[in-house]
Amino acid sequence: MESPARPALFDFHGVWMTCRYTGNWDALQTFQARPDDILIATYPKAGTTWVSYILDLLYFGHLSPERQKTVPITERVPFLEVTNPGLPIGTELAEKLLTTPRLIKTHLPVQFVPKSFWEHNCRMIYVARNAKDNMVSYFHFARMTDLLPEPGDWTCYFQSFLAGKVPFGSWFDHVNGWWRKRRTYPKLHFMFYEDLSEDTGREIDKLCSFLGLSPSAEEKTEVMSGVKFDSMRNNAMTNYSTYPLMKFDVSPFMRKGQVGDWKSHFTVAQDEEFDEDYKKKIDPTLHLRTEI
Ligand code: A3P
Repeated sequence: MESPARPALFDFHGVWMTCRYTGNWDALQTFQARPDDILIATYPKAGTTWVSYILDLLYFGHLSPERQKTVPITERVPFLEVTNPGLPIGTELAEKLLTTPRLIKTHLPVQFVPKSFWEHNCRMIYVARNAKDNMVSYFHFARMTDLLPEPGDWTCYFQSFLAGKVPFGSWFDHVNGWWRKRRTYPKLHFMFYEDLSEDTGREIDKLCSFLGLSPSAEEKTEVMSGVKFDSMRNNAMTNYSTYPLMKFDVSPFMRKGQVGDWKSHFTVAQDEEFDEDYKKKIDPTLHLRTEI
């Protein structure tokens, strides 16, 4: 039976959403970005926290050790559109941020991004993760938090995901939409979870070049060490253990952090069905790796 605490899905301008992400729509759409804001955009479970923490350490890793120990990533990098019950509203957290630049996270499809970010020509970073691993990660996340609609069992979730009937809609529309935006908006840095997993140092170098940062070798080593999966999993400021409404006995937030975990979930028939659908929906110029 569906838990009453779990929000319902509804069609919102052609994208499946819940009230947790549309409940503050007017304030969201009129949010005032600043020219130096950096927007980190992803489809949920594509590596948002990982890239958020990389950026946070690159910019603010040298700030007080107190901050490293006491300010969770959810406050350092607010989730712009969120309005979870009893928790701070994303736009308000972002407005209160004291850091420069402000690092702001969003899962919005590109067409829903508040216009002020475009008007100010803000830098944006989009992280894409291959759809199979993304689906598996989203499934386990939906199991472990009542902030999302009930996922059902894996077979049921597989169909919902393929149909785009999950919060923030179709993975294909999301990734294709941001990918195409990159052609007309040069200040968008597009990156892949799989590349980050394969060579974190190389991807940090690319990020730094996009952001105009030149960390010392020592600073880069510190960032690399802090953003390793095990470091983040054991760090209360990045593993979501301070965030309410998560059922860590069902699944950890920092679950496996692997490329290819989909193989332990997909049946052969699901894999074939998925590949068939994928060919029809993915932008042919976009290449994501399902293994490395
Ligand atoms: P899994 O569920 O596959 O483990 P998001 O931050 O967008 O919610 O994404 C969460 C996913 O990113 C989880 O995937 C999580 O384990 C993974 N992740 C977070 N930090 C990571 C890191 N440092 N290295 C590898 N994967 C990481």
